[in-house]
Amino acid sequence: MTHHTSTQTSTETSSATGTDVTVIGLGLMGRALADAVLTAGHRVTVWNRTAAKAEGLVSRGARLADSVESAVLASPVSIVCVSDYASLQQAFASVSGDLDGRVLVNLTSGDPEQARELARWADQAGAHTLDGAIMAVPSTIGTADAIILLSGSGTAFETHQPLLAALGDATFLGDDHGLAALYDVAGLSVMWGVLNAWLQGVALLSTAGVDASAFTPFAAQVAQETVGWLPGYADQVDRGSFTPDDATIATHAGGIAHLVRVSEELGVDAELPRLFGSVAARAIAAGHADRSYPALIEQLAPGSRAS
Ligand SMILES: NC(=O)c1ccc[n+]([C@@H]2O[C@H](COP(=O)([O-])OP(=O)(O)OC[C@H]3O[C@@H](n4cnc5c(N)ncnc54)[C@H](OP(=O)(O)O)[C@@H]3O)[C@@H](O)[C@H]2O)c1
Repeated sequence: MTHHTSTQTSTETSSATGTDVTVIGLGLMGRALADAVLTAGHRVTVWNRTAAKAEGLVSRGARLADSVESAVLASPVSIVCVSDYASLQQAFASVSGDLDGRVLVNLTSGDPEQARELARWADQAGAHTLDGAIMAVPSTIGTADAIILLSGSGTAFETHQPLLAALGDATFLGDDHGLAALYDVAGLSVMWGVLNAWLQGVALLSTAGVDASAFTPFAAQVAQETVGWLPGYADQVDRGSFTPDDATIATHAGGIAHLVRVSEELGVDAELPRLFGSVAARAIAAGHADRSYPALIEQLAPGSRAS
């Protein structure tokens, strides 16, 4: 990517630039995104490294650009969705001109810092960016089931909200360009936390011949009850106040030790519960035995409000 210093930030109208929106990257997700904006009635320019993948979209009225730069300049807003940031850098390496106030909505998955770096580059190239995380599969794009988290330029979000709504349930999180990517990984943490905890239960019940399907309604009930605790616990974390209304960390640690012991006795892998136990043990060693469970945040993010 070539860096520029530009003070020009004007946003041209679609009539001056040709189409309403450009889609760069026509893989499985990019084609679904282009399809959704075409279906919503927008005039669309597309670009893909392998031009043949644009055929279906061109037959539906999309215009095919011959370079990334001409694609970006064809519309006031461009949606970018390629494999990763390295691919994005390669695709944009040929961009040498001023992007002249255009908006880039980057829906390529990546790290928070990659999103911030892209925003700095775009700023120097005279463009504004929104960085996004798509929490959906291509078949749901264009419906309310497609959750799209966005962060970065609030002005760009407001200006292009109707267009972004054509892609799915587009939510703006704030002006830190890295926020959407951060929510994305935080969501993954919750997802694998739930999946692995459920699998531990499945493994325990399997030793008594109980099927996963028989155990799962009870697992869902426990998960739902636990989720119900989160708003109150979040308030404790935000206030940095951990008075135990329900159980202390010491009490939880006793329960975790029980889970470890029973897992070991039954020949079930106990690595995951042992990990829970070691975090609780660190909190107890730090003098937090009589605090409520969310005080463990200090073990995960030292220097947080629990200290
Ligand atoms: N698919 C999903 O369910 C899903 C869900 C959420 C998020 N996402 C994210 O969406 C992004 C795209 O995923 P996808 O499923 O569309 O992947 P994909 O089908 O593999 O498509 C990848 C796209 O990136 C392009 N590309 C790769 N390297 C390139 C390079 N060096 N220069 C220019 N273009 C390059 C490809 O161009 P060619 O056609 O020329 O190869 C293609 O358009 C990823 O970041 C993914 O994590 C996908």
